[in-house]
Amino acid sequence: MSRRLQAPRGTFDVLGDAAQARAELERVARQILERAGYERAETPVFEATELFARGVGASTDIVQKEMYSFDDGGGRSLTLRPEGTAPICRAYIEHGMHKRPQPVKLWYMGPFFRAEAPQAGRYRQFAQIGAEAIGSDDPAVDAESILLLAELLEAVGARETRLRISSLGTPAMRAAYREELAAYLRAHEHELSAEVRGRIELNPLRAFDADHPGTRRVMDAAPRLLDRLSPEDVEHFGAVRELLDAAGLAYEIDTTLVRGLDYYTRTVFEFTSDALGAQSGVGGGGRYDGLVEQIGGPPTPGMGWAAGVERILLASPPRPTAPPPVDLYVAYAKAELRHQAFVLAADARRAGWAAQVELGGRSLKGQLKAAGRAGARYVAILGDEGMSLKDMESGEQRVVPPDTVIHHLKNGFA
Ligand code: HAM
Repeated sequence: MSRRLQAPRGTFDVLGDAAQARAELERVARQILERAGYERAETPVFEATELFARGVGASTDIVQKEMYSFDDGGGRSLTLRPEGTAPICRAYIEHGMHKRPQPVKLWYMGPFFRAEAPQAGRYRQFAQIGAEAIGSDDPAVDAESILLLAELLEAVGARETRLRISSLGTPAMRAAYREELAAYLRAHEHELSAEVRGRIELNPLRAFDADHPGTRRVMDAAPRLLDRLSPEDVEHFGAVRELLDAAGLAYEIDTTLVRGLDYYTRTVFEFTSDALGAQSGVGGGGRYDGLVEQIGGPPTPGMGWAAGVERILLASPPRPTAPPPVDLYVAYAKAELRHQAFVLAADARRAGWAAQVELGGRSLKGQLKAAGRAGARYVAILGDEGMSLKDMESGEQRVVPPDTVIHHLKNGFA
């Protein structure tokens, strides 16, 4: 026997109940998002590498070490998409969607790829549900977008979720703030933990996460990004919060919220679930007012989020999923009747019924067992003396002409 192959590390198969749970999550997401006017969109699974280098940001972990990039054979570099926002913005530009009424609201669900170290809740191929609203900087877009993810998480029963929000201002302001914070940390270097001290230049914002008492004292008095926002950005953030308050959605303001993508401006947010382990981020997003322009389009604001399908399902109680109903199972007593059985099942399906026929060469007894296991409502049995139809609920069985089966499926034996 040749060596047995396995799915690559950090990937998984979706089978049985897990497949049903995903389909149900997609159904709920579609209902919630389409009710709010979001249209389904699909973009390719691979894109030009440059789209992510320019869109997501050359200094991010995603672009520096997590992309699956390959040569297309003609010297062009392509990348399996690590995220969906840059591709949606590319499609917005490519299809001239700025000519449509703004904002253009699109949603998606599909596979994404990041070469991360696999662990519970973190995979190399995972699925995201995402929603993007492009073309308006109205704070109502931000608030509605956040509400829609809250609604989705509530609808599927995601446990112990918490929402944190913040505002990041502009990238230029953020860079200046980083410098200011690094300078502040350097001035208090002797009070910090060795770990934080070693990261001052690399990522000063991480100091806000430290548990070390000395570091915490220093951070309590550290300058806050929110205090450095321009008056317009402060006003925008205030308007977003007012709308969330009016809608009764609870949140915490977290001035240390950082996201792993460079395109964010103004509002950012993240839902976490305390029911998950280390990978507690269920979904997040924010505003990206510079992204469309950065990848070659006209200046266009945007706002959206993406949520991890596997993490939503891990955070939600399993829902009992009923197996799909089987209206008719067609069994036959001997091989000569297979033809007729096959055609009967096909005709029933064409007429709109869920119908199956024996495909495994079982004996009649085996076929009846299979029909029972499948939960068939009716079983048609083709034998030498014609066809009998059995109502599996009442147990009643009658000999009927084969061309009346569909009539009986509809009307019973009446
Ligand atoms: P992100 O925070 O990188 O944002 O990913 C969104 C969600 O995808 C995460 O909260 C997490 O649930 C899930 N996720 C990310 N990486 C993995 C992984 N390796 N394994 C399993 N799940 C994962 C974005 O991707 C942005 N495009 C969101 C956005 C849309 N911002 C604006 N619009």
